[in-house]
Amino acid sequence: MSEGAAKKEEKPRKFQAIRGTRDLLPPETALWNRVEQTAHEVFVTFGFGEIRPPIFELTELFARAVGGDTDIVSKEMYTFAPGYDPNSEEESVPGRTLTLRPEATASVCRAYIEHNMQQLPQPVKLYYMGPMFRRERPQKGRYRQFYQIGAEILGGPDAPAIDAELIEMLMTFFERCGLQGTELSINSIGHAADNCRRGYVAKLREALTKVKDHLGRDSLRRIETNPLRVLDSKLEHEQAIVEKLPRIADHLCEDCKTHYAAVKRELELRGVIYRENWRLVRGLDYYMRTTFEITAQGLGSQNAVCGGGRYDGLVELLGGPPTKGIGFAIGEDRLMLSLQESAKGAAPQGRDVYIAWMGERAYATATRAAKDLRKAGFSVELPPTELKFGKALERASKLASRFALILGDNEVADGQWTLKTLADGSQQKLAEQALLEYLRTVSAGS
Ligand code: HAM
Repeated sequence: MSEGAAKKEEKPRKFQAIRGTRDLLPPETALWNRVEQTAHEVFVTFGFGEIRPPIFELTELFARAVGGDTDIVSKEMYTFAPGYDPNSEEESVPGRTLTLRPEATASVCRAYIEHNMQQLPQPVKLYYMGPMFRRERPQKGRYRQFYQIGAEILGGPDAPAIDAELIEMLMTFFERCGLQGTELSINSIGHAADNCRRGYVAKLREALTKVKDHLGRDSLRRIETNPLRVLDSKLEHEQAIVEKLPRIADHLCEDCKTHYAAVKRELELRGVIYRENWRLVRGLDYYMRTTFEITAQGLGSQNAVCGGGRYDGLVELLGGPPTKGIGFAIGEDRLMLSLQESAKGAAPQGRDVYIAWMGERAYATATRAAKDLRKAGFSVELPPTELKFGKALERASKLASRFALILGDNEVADGQWTLKTLADGSQQKLAEQALLEYLRTVSAGS
């Protein structure tokens, strides 16, 4: 077939973003940048440094860390064959697969071990931001590619002050973002020992078995796989049953009880307001002792904007030395939704200056003016083709410009440029330097 014939058969096709993924567009992306910048600024004041782990890792890393029976590992991971290079150790192991990260705590622990970070002054405080991937049923606030801003503290002493300071940092960040209606819930799920969580889980299983005829399919399955997750149930008819189940606070060992009491005291010391929720168990296997979640307004059913907790022992499980660990991850998509909800009708992202130029000579001056104004930090729109004066002003206001800089033959000849304030239509003539000074003064005042 000739090339021409092949082309003819190829019908144009419109593509769409895959279900559960989406394009983030301006002006919304400006808000994303502002939030991310706030995270950089706040986290640095608490002594955190940024880590950027890769987006895919060995499947086994997530399976081990997050847990084989969890929803994430058992049904939500994007897993693929490693590749085709028979000489590569990673690619030639039979059955070995790679996975797009569903979360980043496992990667941060892997990096801590790989780079011998236990030799650095402890604890090591790291934060990250970026996309995560889970094959969940998409809905408002739930996507298959979503974004997290997270932080982890690894190593250091067994000190409840670490838990409290991490939560304090999180609440400081939310406050700086202007997030409304936040509620912090905390709990302790103890540690894996017979006289602590394991003993409690046995009691819970027993209690659940007694009421199994009244449970839904998921909870029934969880009696065997992970009875703690039954406490998470959102099913209307299971609520009364769950309320009557034994509570973990009554079964914590002395050390975990003391730790939890100290975390609460430390939070109070820092003025952090919390609510205790004995049903907060979290959906990942690595947690122990402190767990927490934050909800915010305007999110509907997917209202958890952040989740986290302590995971002493995870580094060890991944082949490292015994190491304490605690962290959180903020769902950035949900944070944005909630911020947008509370700031309805926020001004669109405009331009500081729209340059309405007319004529060849004015164009040369306009390009130079654009360069100087941008260098001074102003956002400038320089139309690439000449427009009639009226049309140019129309475009300037459509782009929500604050000023129009009018440059024609007269302005260039006199060296006096015309600056029009679009809000009230007033005009003034200014020399180049004076104009720059004027713009600086007015933008500093607004
Ligand atoms: P997680 O609770 O699975 O924890 O996720 C944390 C947050 O990510 C959630 O509270 C939610 O805001 C957001 N999120 C989760 N899945 C989705 C989704 N499909 N669409 C939109 N947002 C979502 C973790 O990932 C742990 N690694 C947190 C952690 C760090 N624990 C200790 N260190």
